[in-house]
Amino acid sequence: MKKVLSKMIIKYLDGVSDDEIEQLLVIPPEVDMGDYSLPCFSFAKRLKKSPVTIADHLKVDLENDSDQSVITEICSMNGYLNIYLNRSNYIKFILDDAHNLDLNLSAEGIGKVICMDYSSPNIAKNFHVGHLRTTVIGNSLYKIYTKLGYKVIRINHLGDWGTQFGKLIVGYKNWSSKEQVEEGGIEELLRIYVLFNKKVKDNPMLNEEARLWFLKMEQGEEEALSIWKWFKEISLKEFNRIYRLLGIEFDYYLGESFYMDKVPALVAELKEKGLLLESQGANIVNLEAYNMPPCLITKNDGSSIYHSRDMAAILYRNNEYHFDKCLYITGLEQKLHFAQVFKAIELMGYDWADGLVHIPYGLVSLKGEKLSTRTGNIIYAEDILFEAIKRSNQLIAEKNPNISNKEQVAEIVGLGAVIFHDLFHQRIKNINFSWEEVLSFDGATGPYIQYTYARAKSILRKGNIDKINMDIETNLLIEQASYNLVKEIASFPNKVKESAARYEPSVVARYVWGLATIFNKFYQECNILNAEKKTKEARLVLVYLTQKTIKDAMELLGIRCPEEM
Ligand code: ARG
Repeated sequence: MKKVLSKMIIKYLDGVSDDEIEQLLVIPPEVDMGDYSLPCFSFAKRLKKSPVTIADHLKVDLENDSDQSVITEICSMNGYLNIYLNRSNYIKFILDDAHNLDLNLSAEGIGKVICMDYSSPNIAKNFHVGHLRTTVIGNSLYKIYTKLGYKVIRINHLGDWGTQFGKLIVGYKNWSSKEQVEEGGIEELLRIYVLFNKKVKDNPMLNEEARLWFLKMEQGEEEALSIWKWFKEISLKEFNRIYRLLGIEFDYYLGESFYMDKVPALVAELKEKGLLLESQGANIVNLEAYNMPPCLITKNDGSSIYHSRDMAAILYRNNEYHFDKCLYITGLEQKLHFAQVFKAIELMGYDWADGLVHIPYGLVSLKGEKLSTRTGNIIYAEDILFEAIKRSNQLIAEKNPNISNKEQVAEIVGLGAVIFHDLFHQRIKNINFSWEEVLSFDGATGPYIQYTYARAKSILRKGNIDKINMDIETNLLIEQASYNLVKEIASFPNKVKESAARYEPSVVARYVWGLATIFNKFYQECNILNAEKKTKEARLVLVYLTQKTIKDAMELLGIRCPEEM
């Protein structure tokens, strides 16, 4: 519609392109201000007229010329040109387009590759709520980019290398056993890690032992590697439990260890390009000119570190996948790390470094409420997910105990609640986690939207139609509640694109919440099943499109919708 309108308007504005008009056209905040609005302020200088005069003239010109089947009314208001569309025809236009939505969407990314580095938990450490955020944000962005036609490569950059493994081996050898680790899993590994850090205070020699074990790992010594591998398997078993629950998959699990042997080539290249500096036995890239501390490449015993393994991973990914963009989804606290790494890659002369993007997110805290945390104040992702499922089981038992597949619905609702709550907040914002808020059936929550979906499905079942007939009388949908709903449905593709451009799943989350709200208003104001035949048919089309759009949008967030709830 913006294209159609800008073609009409451009005739009356000298020196302005239709692209520019298309970009300027907005949907006004209030329904009574029209369907589209063109702010005329940016033309004033060029046309040497005030915005108000420009809008006044445009109104007259368009009224004399414009096609009544497209525009019914035009107003000039304080420098804005407000346009009211012919509702019936506009609805027809939208409904015709609804069939092509998927096609229109997938054009953007054709032929483009995006690498996504997300989730990436640390071996022998717990999968905490922070990892849950990167996991669900990453999964949603993966779905959004895939929908837009991009080829997305999902990489789990496991934290599976580093000096901490030396400490773990020392801890295991001194204070644990095969049975204890097998039985306790990550929890036992955490225990010995904490114990190591305690004991080392009285016995600094332990540090030296740990360093030697890690050195053995770096040199490929068999025993060291086999213990490390075993710890990794144990951790992955636990991580996979969470991924399975959330329905999340990766194309590659390539942890930091995979890049360890690629660091020497990186060091050689940095040296050759004159970027490597020796500093107290360590190797660094100086970033003083960019107001950053140096990027550490190797430590004084020559071993690789987080930064250099990330740089090696970038070179590897560029070679292997020829990405247009490589996205990193981690907590905000790693901002400096990625700024350093990306800058160092840029200094190596790689112009594609501008495709490297860090996508940070804020912290999650548990406000006021107690959730049994297993160690200290670390919140385990799995505890949150299980608790949510348990609570939604209780809710179903209260509200709709006779529903079929109760257990499955409780799982879908519980998981959906947690994921939605996470994605509804803008990425960068800190989240205060409260169970009341997460699982509420009113307001901006997953259950509210799932419930709306189930309601729409139930109307369709009662409406007894097995095939939706899109050939309806669109003038039966021009009253405000239906018209708002049609327009909201139509804005889905733009929201998906906006959400991709801003790396912000919250755009889709907020959209689907708005859609559910507008649908519920329509449901309250417009009788559907008892309406006259033609009206009923027309309204059922809206119900059909709403449930389809809710389901598609929720799918982009990684949330399923139960058919009944
Ligand atoms: N393992 C890290 C953590 O848990 C996240 C890794 C992010 N990805 C990367 N390529 N550095 O904080």
